[in-house]
Amino acid sequence: MTAARGAFASVAAQAKVNLFLRVLGREASGYHALETLFCRIELADMVRVRPTAGETSLDVTGSVPAQGLGPVERNLAWRAAEMYREQTRWPAGFVIEIEKRIPVGGGLGGGSADAGAVLRALNALAPAPVDESALLEMAIRLGADVPFLTTRAPLALAWGRGERMLSLAPLPRRVMLLLTSDAGVPTADAFRWLAESRGEYRPLPHVIDAASLSSWNSVARLAHNDFEAIISPRFPTVDRALVYLRSARAAELFGDEPIVQMSGSGATVFALRSDDVSVDLDVRVAEGDGMRAVATSSCTHVEEVHVGE
Ligand code: C5P
Repeated sequence: MTAARGAFASVAAQAKVNLFLRVLGREASGYHALETLFCRIELADMVRVRPTAGETSLDVTGSVPAQGLGPVERNLAWRAAEMYREQTRWPAGFVIEIEKRIPVGGGLGGGSADAGAVLRALNALAPAPVDESALLEMAIRLGADVPFLTTRAPLALAWGRGERMLSLAPLPRRVMLLLTSDAGVPTADAFRWLAESRGEYRPLPHVIDAASLSSWNSVARLAHNDFEAIISPRFPTVDRALVYLRSARAAELFGDEPIVQMSGSGATVFALRSDDVSVDLDVRVAEGDGMRAVATSSCTHVEEVHVGE
């Protein structure tokens, strides 16, 4: 096989929030069909991948929770590299380094963003890169958030398990505050609680007007997350974060028509200013009560992969 096109590749693996998220039904497989508006944000893990002749390792530093990240074979970034190797028979080994900044288990797609970054990085280095659809096929086998986080779309409407997407023109950059807690919500439990509360799924007709996805004010009117009512009674920190960010006190920071909701199946709650007033978010105002605040913003482009020798 010919030599790799570079010695390593690095990429800022940007997280996502769900500006809306509806669970439409349950497949016979037990998986749920979703309809969601994904938006990439500036907050990112730094991911670096180096193909090797055989040695394989994963090193994670940064804001890793005290209980760790679990066994390496279950790490999505690791599984992404294994999947790429299995499907393309390259590389023989890989060294992955991740500097984590995205809270783990928070509904921000941190692990999925790392996996997407690994797929893109390996494809940038591979002697015989695969096309985008082959890369997305690997992505969907890794999880519902991975396909979007493998694309270069800053904003996309997605259906199914997240494998069908309509890539949209980015909306202007807006400031946002994330409130996270150490209480990660297990995704499978969130879907199970939702299914138990719903009973029979009935298809409800719903029209999304394309024009309503072209401004923050109209997106704010569509904002909704089906998981919120399921998660907030079970996770008091989520409830407190929502109450705080929807309070009059927070309105001074986030303007008249903010988007305030939980991302994914939780536990992170975010507030995004829908107008273009640039406020200086002092994260300390929102911290305490077991919550950590992170100031970030929505983004207008997805970071490129950098190849180095
Ligand atoms: O996609 P991810 O691997 O994070 O999903 C974890 C679990 O959440 C799945 O094993 C499944 O139980 C549930 N899930 C679901 N429907 C989806 C996505 C996830 O039921 N669309």
